[in-house]
Amino acid sequence: MRTIDTLGYPIVVSSGGLAEVARIVEERAPSHRYVIITDDNVASHYLDHVSASLIEGSGRGVTSDRVHTVVIPAGEEHKTRERWSAITDTLLAYGCGRDTAIIALGGGVIGDLAGFVAATYMRGIPVVQIPTTLLAMVDASVGGKTAVDTPAGKNTVGAFHPPAAVMIDPATLASLPARELRSGLAEVIKHGVIADRSVIDEVEAIMPALLAARALGAALEPMIERSVRIKADVVAADERELGLRKVLNFGHTIGHGVEAASDYVLLHGEAIAIGMVAEARLAENLGIATVGTAAAIEDAVTRAGLPSRAPDGMAADRVLALMRSDKKQRRGVLEYSLPKRMGEMAGESSGWAIAVDDSIALEVLRALANRE
Ligand SMILES: NC(=O)c1ccc[n+]([C@@H]2O[C@H](COP(=O)([O-])OP(=O)(O)OC[C@H]3O[C@@H](n4cnc5c(N)ncnc54)[C@H](O)[C@@H]3O)[C@@H](O)[C@H]2O)c1
Ligand SMILES: [Zn+2]
Repeated sequence: MRTIDTLGYPIVVSSGGLAEVARIVEERAPSHRYVIITDDNVASHYLDHVSASLIEGSGRGVTSDRVHTVVIPAGEEHKTRERWSAITDTLLAYGCGRDTAIIALGGGVIGDLAGFVAATYMRGIPVVQIPTTLLAMVDASVGGKTAVDTPAGKNTVGAFHPPAAVMIDPATLASLPARELRSGLAEVIKHGVIADRSVIDEVEAIMPALLAARALGAALEPMIERSVRIKADVVAADERELGLRKVLNFGHTIGHGVEAASDYVLLHGEAIAIGMVAEARLAENLGIATVGTAAAIEDAVTRAGLPSRAPDGMAADRVLALMRSDKKQRRGVLEYSLPKRMGEMAGESSGWAIAVDDSIALEVLRALANRE
């Protein structure tokens, strides 16, 4: 078991940790009622286990009538205001008061949605995050951002609501589809690029186990811990994303454009892998990054089984147009978080965001599309 404590709430990485849910919940979010919010995929694997370990592991006599469950269909299309409102109504119907804690059991969709319910219910009640995808473990569950999507865009309505605790049980990754697992590795690689290149060696070291035996669990603890620590350190320095937290957007300006241009056929991490390679190339072209940075990132994402080039037929101007409709703009000029070299980001003097003219970005996007 490893605990990261830099954010004021514990982030526990423990294979088999689901069995310890009662301990962490009672320590960090002792409440009269508990509501476990999850999706139908995750529920079929882990809901009974989590609710049983909450009831049976309780030292304070949590009885089954005090543990409610809300199961929604899986998928980003359910991260909506409508779901938020329906879940809130369910809590009201159960008679949940301020002495209620939410347990968010699932991937980033559940973490964001259940977190937003917790942020707003009775002006804010505790949430314990139990992430079950690699992406949610190393990224979404850490840092306190919660949100829902609207027709105007992803995460357009939300709140900062730090969790009371995060319980990461890598053993839950055994049931995660391999493609989702690889997608999560993109964020781990991103953490390596922004702060510590040795994290990338860690990814390479666990790849065989990850792809072959699926001998997950304890073997993944060190990689997850290091990745979480990097994100936690960045968030601790800048919780509200006024400056340094922007480095976490590396790969995401182009990545979001690529993700949207694929009509979300690409998973988030796949698009980010492509975005990281492209943005590193952009940084090299601008003379910001050491030559070879993009090649090193391309090598890392390829070894992780992630794509590094845009799919055939993806037009550069469409990607750019979609990047422009995303939100990271300052006075109409697109901004990027760019690396200096592996393990170090550029842009400290400009708030870690670098404005780049579209014509320069277009060159990189065209090369990306043409598979140069
Ligand atoms: N709040 C933040 O800081 C933050 C950061 C990054 C991403 N996000 C959000 O996270 C979301 C993406 O998260 P995601 O990639 O985890 O997607 P997701 O929650 O949709 O999970 C992916 C799929 O895996 C299934 N699943 C989850 N855990 C499983 C398990 N252990 N076994 C089997 N199946 C399992 C889910 O049901 C789903 O079908 C996006 O909405 C994104 O905006 C938020
Ligand atoms: Zn991301």
